[in-house]
Formats: sequence, C-alpha cells, structure tokens
Amino acid sequence: MKQFLNDRLPLDGVMAHLRKPLPKHINLLFSLGSLAMFLLLLQAATGAFLALSYSPTPDHAYNAVNYINDEVPFGKFVRGLHHWGASAMVIIVFLHILRVVLYGSYKAPRELTWVVGVLLLLVTLGFGFTGYLLPWDEKAYWATVVGIEISSTAPVLGDVVAKIMRGGAEVGAVTLSRFYALHTIWLPWLAFGLVGLHLFLVRFYGSSGTPKNTPEDMKTGKPFYPDQVFEDVVGMLILFVILACAALFAPVPLEDVADPTNADYDPRPEWYFLFLFQLLKYFQGPFEILGTFVIPTVGMLLLLFLPFLDRSERKVLWKRPIAMTVTSVCVVAIVGLTILGATAPKLETQEETQPTDEAQQVTPPDTETTDINEGEDVFDFQLTEEEIENAKDVGEESE
Ligand code: HEM
Repeated sequence: MKQFLNDRLPLDGVMAHLRKPLPKHINLLFSLGSLAMFLLLLQAATGAFLALSYSPTPDHAYNAVNYINDEVPFGKFVRGLHHWGASAMVIIVFLHILRVVLYGSYKAPRELTWVVGVLLLLVTLGFGFTGYLLPWDEKAYWATVVGIEISSTAPVLGDVVAKIMRGGAEVGAVTLSRFYALHTIWLPWLAFGLVGLHLFLVRFYGSSGTPKNTPEDMKTGKPFYPDQVFEDVVGMLILFVILACAALFAPVPLEDVADPTNADYDPRPEWYFLFLFQLLKYFQGPFEILGTFVIPTVGMLLLLFLPFLDRSERKVLWKRPIAMTVTSVCVVAIVGLTILGATAPKLETQEETQPTDEAQQVTPPDTETTDINEGEDVFDFQLTEEEIENAKDVGEESE
C-alpha cells in the first residue's frame, strides 16, 4: 500500500519537508497556533452536529435549542463544547497574538502572515457575534440589537451596514437567517481559506524562533515531525479534556425566549466584547462616536499595519521599549475594561430570568412589518409605551 501511494504521490518529499528541524529553543508558546487550529476544527465539528437539530426562525430557534439540550442524545454536551470552545478560541487566539508580538515574529519577512492573522482574528470575533443571536433568548436578542446599533454609528456606511445586517428595520426573522448563514457558511469558508493561507505562509518562511536564537540555531532544533507534532497533540488533548469538563459541569445558560417588547432588559454582550461595551460608557453625547467607532477602528488599523509601522529588526523585548509599553498598556486596558464590564451592576428593573413555559409562547414581531427601532439614538433602545403597544399589536396579528 505504502509503495502504491509512494509511486503516485510525492509522499517522501512531504515527509522530508515535515522532518526538517525547527529553530532551537522552541517552547510551549509555539503550540498556541496549533491549538487555535484545533479549536476551529472542533467548532466546525460540534457546529455541524448542532445544525442537524437547529432551525433559524424566530418561531423555532429557541425551542430547537431547548430540544438539543433536553432531548438530543449528547446534545447538551456538544452544545457545551461549542459554547466553551468559542470562548477558548478567543483566549487562545489572543495569547497567540501576544506570543507573536512579544517575540517580534511579525517582523519582515512575515508581514503577510501577520495581516492574514489579523483577518483571522476578525473572523473569530465574527463567529462570536453571529453565533450569539442563534439561541434567540433575551440576551441573544438584546445584545444583537445593541451591537447593530453601535455599528450604525460609523460615518457614511454605518447605517447601510446596520440595515444589511438586520435585513429590515429591526432585528427579526431576516436578521436570524442572515446571522445563521454568516455563522455556518460564509465565515467557515473564509476561516478555512485564511487558515490555509496562514499555514502556507508559516511553512514558507519557516518558524521565526525565539529572540535569543542565533543564525546557527535556526536549523538545529527538534524536527517538526514527530517531536513538535507530538507536543501539539498532547496540548490538544489537554484542552479537549478541559472543555469536556466545562461542558459536563457548567451548563450553557439559556434565558427566556427573546421578547422585543421587554423594555427593561439590560443587554450584555458576550464576555469578549465586554471591554468595548465598557469603553462606550466613558463617551457620551457628541463624544459617543469616539467609543463606538473611532477608538475600535484606529486600534484595529494599528494592529493590522503593525509590521509596517515597526520596521526595526530588534526582537529582544527589553530592547524594544515602545513595543513593550504599548503592548502592556493594551493588555491592561483590555483586561481591566473586561473586568469592569463584567462586574458592573445590572439594571435594578432587570428580573433574574429563567425559561418559563409562558415565555416560550411569545412570538416576536416579524422583521418586515414593524419599524419600532428606526431613527433611535444609539443607546436609546428603551422603547416608548406607544412603541411597545405597536409591537404587541403586530405580535398578535402574526399569531
Ligand atoms: C484562527 C486563528 C489562527 C490560527 C489557526 C493560527 C495558526 C497558526 C499556526 C499553526 C502557526 C505556527 C505555530 C506558531 O507559531 O504558533 C502560526 C504562526 C503565526 N501566526 Fe497564527 N493563527 C491564527 C491567528 C493569528 C492571528 C490573529 C495573528 C496575528 C494577528 C497571527 C499571526 C501569526 C504569525 C505572525 C505567525 C508566525 C510566527 C512565527 O513564525 O514565529 N495568527 N499561526
């Protein structure tokens, strides 16, 4: 069999390439990229399983998620893996970026690897944003309303982008379809294409090694296969065990079914968007746009163009005081704002929500038939009494 394949495919060449030595001093931090890849595959596998029982319509989505939790064999476990896997992916990608920055691995000739990486970061966050709406519970609905309102503040294209995301005047049936399509078709294709390109570039340039590597060290370390592959696989198994424990012992929360008339709801995004959400609180009135658009966009652009802004060849951290200071400030700001956002008290009017049979009867108004959010200010998503009455009327008509 081996001979048969060898005669037809360049297997020996591929093996020789994989057995090439890595630079010396490669440590565990170099497994973070492989762990991110493992998580992407795990998300694809668990997501494909969930999609077998899910239905992306406001009338069925919530009940489908309950059905997966309560009836589908291993449904709760797989949903748990998918939920905690998403959070783990954000953390691992964040740590991977930090490793690449601290070791100066983004510097020439690896600028393209970096740029593709930043696109992968955006895709990872896109998965989180689009997936959050799918359970169609209160927090899913209201976090999406706020997220889309925030994006509508962007100058020129903001309104158009918000309308395209919503597919109408308010978050409803078309929004759910669009987010589902993005989450299960568009973003996975994009992610796998970008990961393929990222890995090609990583192999093409070879690992950058650690800052203390001398030129002689670059080709005298352990081979990629089997040594590094073995370490990566051990890391993946450990990560899987941690996620499996989380899935078994920390059930994924599901609130009441989405109720667009619940004017008292205090929306919170998923934890990895909390730092942005917290940032908004410091910019009010005419300065709101600083928090909703200017700071996040400038931050993203600086990240994207980092290798072109920092042209120095120095890689050792203590000889790069600016890089060290900026990175520390960013990490402290992101972690600090996330903690502040997570510990901020909820609105007093907010009821602690548990799924109830009554709540499951609520049928949200159809997207195309109402325009209760049109023209609202960014954070003025508390509905007036008249708007609530309108929404109720439409809800009753559609029943
Ligand atoms: C789904 C997300 C990602 C996956 C699956 C992934 C995968 C990988 C893998 C397997 C490696 C080689 C091993 C290593 O150095 O850790 C790598 C290297 C690299 N990644 Fe990523 N990555 C992702 C996101 C990112 C992001 C967000 C960035 C930067 C913003 C980035 C920038 C880089 C760079 C510059 C290298 C080369 C490092 C070197 O040569 O030492 N990656 N990535």
